Amino acid sequence: MDIGIIGTGAVGSALASGWAAAGHDVVLGSRTPDSTAADGTRVQVRGQREAAAFGDVVVLALPAGAVTDVATYLENELAEKPVVDTTNEYPFASDDRSLAVRLAETVPQARVVKAFNTVGAERLADPVVDGQPATMFLAGDDLRACDVVAGLARDLGFDPLRAGDVDAAEHLEHLARFWISLSQTYGRDIAFRLLEE
Ligand SMILES: NC(=O)c1ccc[n+]([C@@H]2O[C@H](COP(=O)([O-])OP(=O)(O)OC[C@H]3O[C@@H](n4cnc5c(N)ncnc54)[C@H](OP(=O)(O)O)[C@@H]3O)[C@@H](O)[C@H]2O)c1
Repeated sequence: MDIGIIGTGAVGSALASGWAAAGHDVVLGSRTPDSTAADGTRVQVRGQREAAAFGDVVVLALPAGAVTDVATYLENELAEKPVVDTTNEYPFASDDRSLAVRLAETVPQARVVKAFNTVGAERLADPVVDGQPATMFLAGDDLRACDVVAGLARDLGFDPLRAGDVDAAEHLEHLARFWISLSQTYGRDIAFRLLEE
């Protein structure tokens, strides 16, 4: 699959490494492509618009405060595609609506899926602990887009689980704040797993 990742920080770089290793074609999008090298990856870095146009799926790995502005800038490139929202706000949400709902309202033609926000960047390409895959929770309205993102989570080694429609992203953003709080005591290697029979 062709994947565009916007944002070359810890999350963007980790996802790029993991998916490139799994055989996907990945382009990272940066505000400053000429001077940015994504740490630890051999993935090429281009401008944000070029990376978004490249992807059949586009991942927004951006600061929460930048995501709606960047999505507006990339609106045409995001239309009709699965668009993955990885963003979190900490220590508090700044709005009653989740970041993913605000993103979906900003770019209504994009198929927004909340994912990859409930684990630390270090575990994104290394999600199996003692043989147990961490659960990757997803939330989105479009079932086909969720299926695509679930497949990409599986390719990294996660056990994907759709938590619900985009309104369930609120729970995932709370869960991420809980993860951050726990990680301050138990370390950044921790990850959630849902037990089911
Ligand atoms: N770090 C984690 O463990 C983790 C885990 C799960 C989720 N998250 C969430 O995922 C998102 C990305 O996390 P991250 O740790 O990768 O963030 P980060 O290291 O701060 O990187 C974000 C990237 O976004 C790009 N960017 C575009 N517009 C920007 C702007 N206006 N201001 C600053 N950067 C801008 C930058 O890349 P260019 O300079 O190349 O454009 C930057 O490297 C955040 O919302 C975070 O809360 C983080």
